[in-house]
Amino acid sequence: MLAKILLPTLVAIGSVSAQSGVCTFTSTQTYHSQAEATALANCKSVKGSIVIASDAQPNIDITGPSEITGDLSLLSNNLIETFKSDNLAKIGGNFEIRNVTKLGALRFPKLTEVSALEWFTLNNLDTLEMALSKAVNITISDTFLQKLDGIDVTSINKFDINNNRRLTKFSTKLGNVSDTLTISSNGLLLQVDLPNLIWIKDMQIANVTKFSAPSLATVNNSAKFDFNYFTEFLAPNLTSSGVVSFIGNPSLTNLSFPLLQTVSRDLSIANNTALKKITGFPELEQVSGAVLLRGTFDEADFPAIQDVKGAFDVASSANITASCDKFKPLAPANQGGNGLIQGVFSCEGLKAEATDDTGSGGSGSGSNTGGGKKDSGAAGLAVNTVLFGVAALGVAQFLL
Ligand SMILES: *[C@@H]1O[C@H](CO)[C@@H](O)[C@H](O)[C@H]1NC(C)=O
Ligand SMILES: *[C@@H]1O[C@H](CO)[C@@H](O)[C@H](O)[C@H]1NC(C)=O
Ligand SMILES: *[C@@H]1O[C@H](CO)[C@@H](O)[C@H](O)[C@H]1NC(C)=O
Ligand SMILES: *[C@@H]1O[C@H](CO)[C@@H](O)[C@H](O)[C@H]1NC(C)=O
Ligand SMILES: *[C@@H]1O[C@H](CO)[C@@H](O)[C@H](O)[C@H]1NC(C)=O
Ligand SMILES: *[C@@H]1O[C@H](CO)[C@@H](O)[C@H](O)[C@H]1NC(C)=O
Ligand SMILES: *[C@@H]1O[C@H](CO)[C@@H](O)[C@H](O)[C@H]1NC(C)=O
Ligand SMILES: *[C@@H]1O[C@H](CO)[C@@H](O)[C@H](O)[C@H]1NC(C)=O
Ligand SMILES: *[C@@H]1O[C@H](CO)[C@@H](O)[C@H](O)[C@H]1NC(C)=O
Repeated sequence: MLAKILLPTLVAIGSVSAQSGVCTFTSTQTYHSQAEATALANCKSVKGSIVIASDAQPNIDITGPSEITGDLSLLSNNLIETFKSDNLAKIGGNFEIRNVTKLGALRFPKLTEVSALEWFTLNNLDTLEMALSKAVNITISDTFLQKLDGIDVTSINKFDINNNRRLTKFSTKLGNVSDTLTISSNGLLLQVDLPNLIWIKDMQIANVTKFSAPSLATVNNSAKFDFNYFTEFLAPNLTSSGVVSFIGNPSLTNLSFPLLQTVSRDLSIANNTALKKITGFPELEQVSGAVLLRGTFDEADFPAIQDVKGAFDVASSANITASCDKFKPLAPANQGGNGLIQGVFSCEGLKAEATDDTGSGGSGSGSNTGGGKKDSGAAGLAVNTVLFGVAALGVAQFLL
């Protein structure tokens, strides 16, 4: 009986070197049942790729090979409940699981290395055993996981964690991210701790309740924080960034970048309705893009600013006359300032639209009340038209 099951499988395998225990699959090997997959117990390693088919059920154990050089995939299966290997340590290709809706447990306690981990729609998955320390890209989307213990890579290209509605904690030793970290639409109380993160190219963080990155020194390209629930955001060690964008974080009261000196692209802070002071940039000297501030804040200050290459566009529903009076001397020469700000300058308080405006709206014509540009006159109109055009473009980009 056993031979009957094993024989066709072994034929399909192509070649098994009994001495070395290397099983070589010339084409992707597909298993439909545990009985078939048991053949893998004879393989010390697998050269090739493995697929667990959509009719395999309910528990699949591929204990045997410690390495699979190709991909390991489990696709569109609504029967399988547990998937495991006691000794698989490395997947040379991708570990891909998509649309596997009954899967409750993945038990790969020895798995330390994969190329890409791509998990989508595992909406019953609540148990994860892994020891993953090396991966190029990771996507974990729509699972029932409460934590991501078992995934602790120190360096990665892309990491995307989205729609894991029960996830409330993500704490990782990640030291650098060479492409993008995306975190969005997970559990409402998600706390993200990145204690070792030193540099990251891009990050897009949404729907997060706590965020900490105490060692973060460099954001090479962009840091976008839109629609989070945190009350404070501190970047205590960040000295340089590309885009800095905080839009629509309704609970934010304290935004603090004590060491930030350069922003090599745009700085946008808009519609953070509880944020009353934008004063957490004591060392900011240079912004190579535009500065766009919108909201209900009553004070804004950039005491060290030396150079803004783009527009400087500030509007609040509160009276910010005092802040605008400080900024006004930095306006371009054609707006009566010393030119440290090179793009179009605008600073206006008591502007009702500033509360729900993330930068695109506003006539910008009449209401100079409380603002600093009482002498703009006819030229001011033209200036504002240009300005709001620029701002609209900028925000549309950040909201993407
Ligand atoms: C998901 O898998 C089920 C079978 O389990 C299949 O019927 C369905 O078409 C798959 N959906 C997608 C989007 O692949
Ligand atoms: C990782 O993601 C990048 C895109 O950032 C892609 O170019 C690359 O091919 C991916 N690598 C793997 C192993 O999936
Ligand atoms: C990335 O971070 C890891 C872990 O902190 C570190 O070992 C590695 O040297 C870093 N690589 C670069 C290029 O900074
Ligand atoms: C990001 O900046 C850090 C620090 O300057 C640098 O070591 C790293 O190579 C940069 N990474 C990318 C992807 O540019
Ligand atoms: C999550 O954030 C996005 C913005 O990226 C927002 O549109 C969405 O409403 C937020 N969802 C919840 C549940 O807060
Ligand atoms: C902050 O950065 C400095 C070097 O720029 C480093 O020596 C220090 O350890 C960092 N602090 C933290 C908390 O990582
Ligand atoms: C924001 O937090 C920082 C660090 O905890 C603190 O020094 C600063 O006073 C706070 N600012 C406001 C406006 O609360
Ligand atoms: C706005 O504040 C300034 C002082 O900073 C004050 O002189 C001015 O009267 C205020 N404007 C309004 C409309 O309250
Ligand atoms: C601004 O944020 C509030 C929540 O604080 C939200 O209701 C409103 O839709 C946002 N406005 C825009 C234009 O995004």
